[in-house]
Amino acid sequence: MAIVYLNGEFLPLEDARISVLDRGFTFGDGVYEVLPVYRRQIFRLNEHLNRLDNSLTSIHMLNPLTLEQWRVILMTLVERCPEDNQSLYVQITRGVSERDHSISLATKPTIFAMCKPLIKCDYSNGIRAVTCEDIRWKWCHIKAITLLPSVLLRYEAAEKDATEAILLKDDFVTEGAASNVFIVQQGVVKTPPKGDNILPGITRDLVIELLIGTGIPCREIKISRKELVSADEIWITSSTWEIVPVIELDGKTIGNGRPGKMWGKAMDIYQEFKKNMTVSN
Ligand code: PDD
Repeated sequence: MAIVYLNGEFLPLEDARISVLDRGFTFGDGVYEVLPVYRRQIFRLNEHLNRLDNSLTSIHMLNPLTLEQWRVILMTLVERCPEDNQSLYVQITRGVSERDHSISLATKPTIFAMCKPLIKCDYSNGIRAVTCEDIRWKWCHIKAITLLPSVLLRYEAAEKDATEAILLKDDFVTEGAASNVFIVQQGVVKTPPKGDNILPGITRDLVIELLIGTGIPCREIKISRKELVSADEIWITSSTWEIVPVIELDGKTIGNGRPGKMWGKAMDIYQEFKKNMTVSN
């Protein structure tokens, strides 16, 4: 039976209960993180907890726990999960209050964490993607639980038999519905710069760090629709998907219709990093 953490207690998932007046339920008033776990090592723990801190600060909340407290809670969940490769989910909401927009009414956050075996789809042959207008709000750097636009964008992609929606704002790429976007153009890897229009992906940052460390040119630069559709390669990245090649965009073939050479190199470097990692890196 899966064990979860809720407000100071470890308990079976079936017994975990929150109030229907929790602001996460009534307003989507909260933030979250998803952390992969490989061989029972939490991947980029500090980076994920840092981003959690930033998300909390952006919504005028303080982190209710210290780094050490988080580490103990998450490691406990990891130890209790039957599989070695896992996916940790952490959510903090502003807690219970009467249904009133004012945040001053909420005094005690709801803290929830759970772990499940990592189910990885094999996307190594590439996926189909579609472009969609980025209909989300202006503060996409916050990892907010309010995900209705992303859910609808993924639905739109699925309706067109695609796995991911690549989003465009004013004809420039922002990110995927639940991923960051990279392109390869004449041997140069490019990804949109950080800002309030994208989530600062932990995988994105690591991919940039690893590529640059290996001497592969990689730039954080705006990508227009024209550049996207004519790219030699397109990749999307996320903690759960790692680096996935896009082989078809809006029904048109990308490159030669197979995962690109640069993607192969990036994957090799990424897998090598995973093999050597410990909880601190
Ligand atoms: N989402 N951009 C968006 C909008 C995302 O939702 C995600 C990940 C990313 C990639 O970030 P990272 O590399 O840190 O996972 C980018 C997670 C996995 C989710 O919502 O389930």
